[in-house]
Amino acid sequence: MDQKILFGLPLLFILAFASGTQAQKSQTVDKCYSCHRDIGSDEAQAYKNDIHFKAGVTCADCHGGDPTVEDQDAAMSPAKGYIGVPKASAIPQVCGKCHGPSKTELKEKFRLDDVMDDFKASVHGRALSESNDGPQCVSCHGIHNIVSIKDRRSPVYPTNVTKTCAKCHSNPNYMKKFNPGLPVDQYEKYLTSVHGKRNQSGDPKAATCVSCHSNHLIRAVKDPRSPVYPTNIPLTCSKCHSNKMYMAEYHIPTNQYDNYVQSVHGIALLKNSDLSAPACNSCHGNHGAVPPGAASVASVCGTCHQANADLFDKSVHKNAFAKAKLPGCVVCHSNHLVKPPSDKMIGFGSASVCGECHKDNSSDSAASTILVMKTTLDSLTNGQKDASALLAHAEQLGMDVSDASYSLRSVNQSLVESRVQVHAFAIAPVVSAAQPGLKIVADAQKSALGAINEYYFRRKGLGVATLVITLLVVLLYLKIKQIERKSRQ
Ligand code: HEC
Ligand code: HEC
Ligand code: HEC
Ligand code: HEC
Ligand code: HEC
Ligand code: HEC
Ligand code: HEC
Ligand code: HEC
Ligand code: HEC
Ligand code: HEC
Ligand code: HEC
Repeated sequence: MDQKILFGLPLLFILAFASGTQAQKSQTVDKCYSCHRDIGSDEAQAYKNDIHFKAGVTCADCHGGDPTVEDQDAAMSPAKGYIGVPKASAIPQVCGKCHGPSKTELKEKFRLDDVMDDFKASVHGRALSESNDGPQCVSCHGIHNIVSIKDRRSPVYPTNVTKTCAKCHSNPNYMKKFNPGLPVDQYEKYLTSVHGKRNQSGDPKAATCVSCHSNHLIRAVKDPRSPVYPTNIPLTCSKCHSNKMYMAEYHIPTNQYDNYVQSVHGIALLKNSDLSAPACNSCHGNHGAVPPGAASVASVCGTCHQANADLFDKSVHKNAFAKAKLPGCVVCHSNHLVKPPSDKMIGFGSASVCGECHKDNSSDSAASTILVMKTTLDSLTNGQKDASALLAHAEQLGMDVSDASYSLRSVNQSLVESRVQVHAFAIAPVVSAAQPGLKIVADAQKSALGAINEYYFRRKGLGVATLVITLLVVLLYLKIKQIERKSRQ
């Protein structure tokens, strides 16, 4: 005999033995089942349709005992491992015999996953370890009539699972035993969302509780590992919303995530871990996930940007936009791709937003206002730049201008305020926010020129320079006066 056959023989033998026991097993009548069927027990009745029954799992595989004998006492004997009806806190161990980490024949044959580790690590597993009343496998999957999760009748099928979760999560008496502070309105709100409405109409593709919270590894929402923790939310939503194939039938854009990650908000939250920046749910709600309509957009943004929203609400644009069904802030800032704003957005240049609707001529009554707003902001930024260059020059010459340099910094405060006041879309508010800054700029320029003047004055023979500089001071003074006069109009 050659080597191959020598090695082949025992293998053949094992295969023959294995298939023999397999055949034998499926032929074995489950005596637990047959007796219980004959006495008309509900469990046996239900079990006929159970996925486990079809896979050859016996009553004894979960309850223990000897399924091969007909005598009740012998079958249901603790000596044969009969455990009776397991109490709730012991159920995960029962299911975990096959759905846990240990390797069994059935687990291999049906390629079952280990779901035990996830369940044990979840809030539900923790609640169960604290109370026999806590959630366990049977709370969600039912018992004796378990069907495939892909079966529309399964309590965990997408169109049923929300009700399954709601059994507990909408039951305040039950939930308060565990966590009295936890809201119990998720299901109720969910039904009002686009997701919930689609789900109710039988569409399994809209998000369910499980799409956002996971199934076995559910964590407290404050846990940074939770899929609904702010920094994880955008990816959780994008599983579906960035999937072109999945979303194709709904004809809505699939670019929300790609845009969001490039936005000021996405960068603040995801790159700089700034939890005050909005994730998808900050604008869309957690359970009542609907797109904020045109009317409510300003109030969504206004929850965080209150000053801007207050000004916008009182501005001409409020009614003009509402009439045209334009979504407030989003018209100029976008919803998902909010970019860092700049002064260039005002005016009629290429990066301006005003130019999208307004014309740069006298036919548009907004044109002059837009230009004055722009000039005011430009005067502040350019004035600040010029003054600081002059001060640097004075310093180079060895003059002490530290006071003026210091006060120049507070121009930023004026700039910040003016940019907020832009949202009044009128001249007066912007100019009055800019006024203190313009004054500081003028003072700083005066000090710088004074210092430079003094330096050259000390150096005789440079009178000409003084003359030029004096001329400059006069010109600048006139310019500032002109700005002030304009802004008072
Ligand atoms: C000859 C019939 C017979 C056989 C065989 C039998 N049972 Fe029972 N079983 C009964 C009857 C009758 C009851 C209900 C009366 C009682 O509690 O004694 C019962 C009750 C039970 C209960 C409920 C116990 C409780 O405390 O409420 C479980 C669980 C159970 N059987 C499982 C099994 C399992 C598992 C097997 C096989 C290992 C099995 N039975 C075999 C007749 C049988
Ligand atoms: C997949 C595991 C599994 C299988 C298979 C299984 N049971 Fe159970 N059974 C359980 C669990 C778990 C409970 C406890 C459920 C609970 O507390 O809600 C239970 C409860 C019971 C009860 C008590 C019901 C009650 O209302 O108190 C009876 C009786 C019973 N099973 C009989 C059977 C019989 C008979 C079979 C076979 C036809 C069977 N079980 C198959 C897991 C199983
Ligand atoms: C909070 C409800 C809940 C609890 C508790 C729960 N499950 Fe599940 N389980 C689900 C949902 C929902 C799905 C299906 C998810 C889907 O549609 O993909 C699922 C899927 C499954 C599957 C099939 C998919 C897979 O991963 O293999 C098995 C098996 C399963 N659960 C077993 C268990 C066992 C065993 C326990 C107890 C240790 C348990 N489940 C506890 C909700 C639950
Ligand atoms: C003796 C092993 C065994 C035990 C114990 C067991 N199961 Fe299973 N379970 C199986 C097998 C095998 C299948 C796969 C049947 C198939 O795919 O056709 C299955 C399938 C399932 C499914 C459907 C999975 C799917 O992909 O659709 C769920 C849900 C499930 N079991 C839950 C439970 C729960 C809950 C318990 C405890 C009450 C439990 N099982 C106990 C062996 C077991
Ligand atoms: C579209 C995603 C999504 C869906 C669908 C969803 N949730 Fe939530 N859930 C969230 C987010 C986001 C939070 C809040 C996180 C936070 O507060 O930071 C949350 C919070 C929770 C909380 C903590 C208490 C609270 O209300 O803040 C519970 C409990 C909860 N959800 C259960 C459910 C249940 C039950 C369902 C199904 C009826 C469901 N969720 C559907 C995303 C979702
Ligand atoms: C048998 C009752 C029960 C069922 C069914 C149930 N839960 Fe829970 N759930 C609880 C309990 C109890 C807690 C723990 C509350 C605590 O201690 O904070 C909890 C906690 C949670 C939390 C964490 C809330 C927080 O931030 O503290 C989420 C999220 C959650 N469940 C989602 C779900 C989802 C999704 C489903 C359905 C797939 C579901 N639950 C089904 C009872 C249940
Ligand atoms: C399981 C996939 C899935 C997940 C996860 C999901 N969604 Fe959805 N969502 C859908 C589907 C499908 C629709 C229905 C589209 C429609 O009817 O326009 C939808 C609709 C929406 C709509 C309404 C769109 C419109 O204009 O009709 C918004 C807003 C939305 N989702 C936001 C979110 C947010 C925010 C998250 C994360 C917290 C999220 N979704 C997670 C699948 C999902
Ligand atoms: C800063 C607030 C904000 C954030 C953050 C935000 N959205 Fe939106 N989203 C909106 C507004 C406002 C609209 C609707 C604008 C309108 O009515 O035209 C919208 C519309 C949508 C729509 C409807 C289809 C569309 O694109 O118009 C979906 C789906 C959506 N958002 C999903 C998401 C997802 C997923 C995220 C996270 C990656 C997210 N949103 C983050 C404000 C936001
Ligand atoms: C949950 C609170 C929150 C909501 C809701 C929100 N934002 Fe923001 N937003 C922030 C935070 C925080 C920053 C600062 C990010 C940073 O550090 O750059 C910011 C930055 C901005 C900026 C840039 C400001 C600057 O000076 O660079 C603009 C513009 C903006 N948001 C517009 C919007 C618009 C438009 C909406 C509504 C569609 C909105 N935001 C909704 C919190 C929010
Ligand atoms: C008609 C266009 C327009 C609308 C509508 C609009 N903005 Fe702005 N927004 C601007 C311009 C222009 C700037 C840039 C100011 C600058 O940098 O010079 C700006 C700047 C901002 C900034 C940064 C400056 C600051 O205030 O910190 C935020 C935040 C902001 N807008 C939020 C909002 C919010 C919230 C709304 C809705 C309530 C809104 N904007 C509506 C045009 C608009
Ligand atoms: C989406 C279009 C749109 C954009 C963008 C827009 N506006 Fe307007 N604006 C309007 C409409 C519509 C009116 C109302 C016109 C009317 O009633 O005659 C208006 C009116 C005004 C008025 C009042 C004009 C008057 O008659 O007194 C001012 C000022 C103004 N806008 C400034 C701005 C500024 C500044 C920007 C850029 C930051 C801007 N607008 C961007 C549409 C827009």
